[in-house]
Amino acid sequence: GRVAALIPAAGSGTRLGRGPKAYVTVAGRTLLERSVEALRPHVSEVIVALPEGETLPAGVRARAVTGGGTRQDSVRLLLEASDADVVLVHDAARPFLGAGTVRAVLDAARASGAATVALPVADTLVRADGTGWGERVERAGLWAVQTPQAGRRDWLLAAHTRAAREGHAATDDAGLLHWAGHAVTLVPGEATLFKVTTPGDLQLAEALAAMWDA
Ligand code: CTP
Ligand code: MG
Repeated sequence: GRVAALIPAAGSGTRLGRGPKAYVTVAGRTLLERSVEALRPHVSEVIVALPEGETLPAGVRARAVTGGGTRQDSVRLLLEASDADVVLVHDAARPFLGAGTVRAVLDAARASGAATVALPVADTLVRADGTGWGERVERAGLWAVQTPQAGRRDWLLAAHTRAAREGHAATDDAGLLHWAGHAVTLVPGEATLFKVTTPGDLQLAEALAAMWDA
């Protein structure tokens, strides 16, 4: 079946403080261009959700739609703009995406219908209380969820439509598929897939780009 990459890039980048993150550059290339170019070889089309009134930055080869007020709204609008059988959803703000990871999450989605990249947690986990360290949380079996996430477009669209109707908010699409009753395969991700969220993340991205682009 046909595969589309859907890239929500309609956020305002409040925590980074540089305007919409899609247009922010790392070593001379926008975050959006980096994400689009990582995905183009693997899919038949790339569709990007942009902030209202914005246009694609130069050099980005994709189709654009206007996003919504939340990430969830933006992804629903992207799903409605595609007629692919399988979709892969990836945050524009995660520019360091390797081909092996894209292939692995797409293979898992073709096999099971729903999959996400996620990173097994390596640090000790603790729940804070009034004094600081409260209670240690068992780390075994815990994964930090990233993107890309992939699955059958009909399942994802049905989950989004129902969530919008019922006012159910989720932080990501694999979570919505799970909420809708589908089993979601976890595919081991990579630390380079961190989301550029704060000014410190952007400094890290600049340093990483020197290696990544070489
Ligand atoms: N996103 C979107 N539509 C929205 C909000 C977010 O398409 N209404 C996208 C962002 O552009 C980003 C991804 O969802 O690629 C993850 O969101 P986040 O990292 O929170 O980005 P922003 O919402 O832009 O940043 P902030 O929350 O700091 O304002
Ligand atoms: Mg946000």
